[in-house]
Amino acid sequence: MFIRSLLALALSAPALATPWLTFSGCSVPSSVLQLPSNQTTLTAPSTAPNFVALGVGVQNYTCANTSTYSNTGAVAELFDISCLFKTPIFGSIQDIVFAAWSEFPNDIPITAIETGFRILGNPDVLGQHYFVKNPSGAAGNSPVFDFTSSGQFNDNKNAFILAAKAGDILSPDSKSDVDWLSLNRVSGELADQVFRVETRGGQPPASCTPGSSTDISVKYAAKYLFYGGSVKK
Ligand SMILES: *[C@@H]1O[C@H](CO)[C@@H](O)[C@H](O)[C@H]1NC(C)=O
Ligand SMILES: *[C@@H]1O[C@H](CO)[C@@H](O)[C@H](O)[C@H]1NC(C)=O
Ligand SMILES: *[C@@H]1O[C@H](CO)[C@@H](O)[C@H](O)[C@H]1NC(C)=O
Repeated sequence: MFIRSLLALALSAPALATPWLTFSGCSVPSSVLQLPSNQTTLTAPSTAPNFVALGVGVQNYTCANTSTYSNTGAVAELFDISCLFKTPIFGSIQDIVFAAWSEFPNDIPITAIETGFRILGNPDVLGQHYFVKNPSGAAGNSPVFDFTSSGQFNDNKNAFILAAKAGDILSPDSKSDVDWLSLNRVSGELADQVFRVETRGGQPPASCTPGSSTDISVKYAAKYLFYGGSVKK
């Protein structure tokens, strides 16, 4: 079902007439990060990012006592989309993949999205995004971006960062899209700063019933940009 919808989208998008796109391994300019001009919470770095990823996965929520869902973390697979930057598809890759991902049966693992991607081209898996218990001992979970098990940093144990949120703004695109945000490095060498932008989906229902609403996972996609860092190949 996923592959059919991705193929249908590919065939309906003129930009995708080229059957085999090169996704991965290109340098991008700093202009790849476009932030809304009506805000000062997020500031684009003056340098170019070292990695441009499409994250595809789920945002997890639990029902808080306030009868609203509270975010407990996320799991996503990160694909290198750097070479799409100079193609017309770059602006809508998150829409194309999110539409397909939304049709994917819920019990299929995120890693299976890779199979569907192969219809469009050859994106490398940069790594995985997940959450761990905050290592400071404070309540809550901390986001991790882990490139230690794939690609150029395979087996390099420093190729990750554990980060902390530095700023977030509502998505300028839709209320159903999770916030755009910036994260700063806490530990690891992969990057100093990460931005999550051009989000699609991931927002929970507006309310829940404490005690009876179960934990939920909501599908999302987003672009992730990684700046700085000192990890060596
Ligand atoms: C929610 O409220 C119940 C009853 O007051 C309490 O036992 C529980 O610890 C609270 N849970 C959270 C997550 O605050
Ligand atoms: C999020 O939910 C998925 C199942 O949908 C689960 O596999 C994953 O471990 C959860 N991760 C976090 C950080 O809650
Ligand atoms: C900025 O513009 C977006 C899109 O037009 C709008 O949704 C958002 O509320 C605005 N933000 C601020 C801080 O004014």
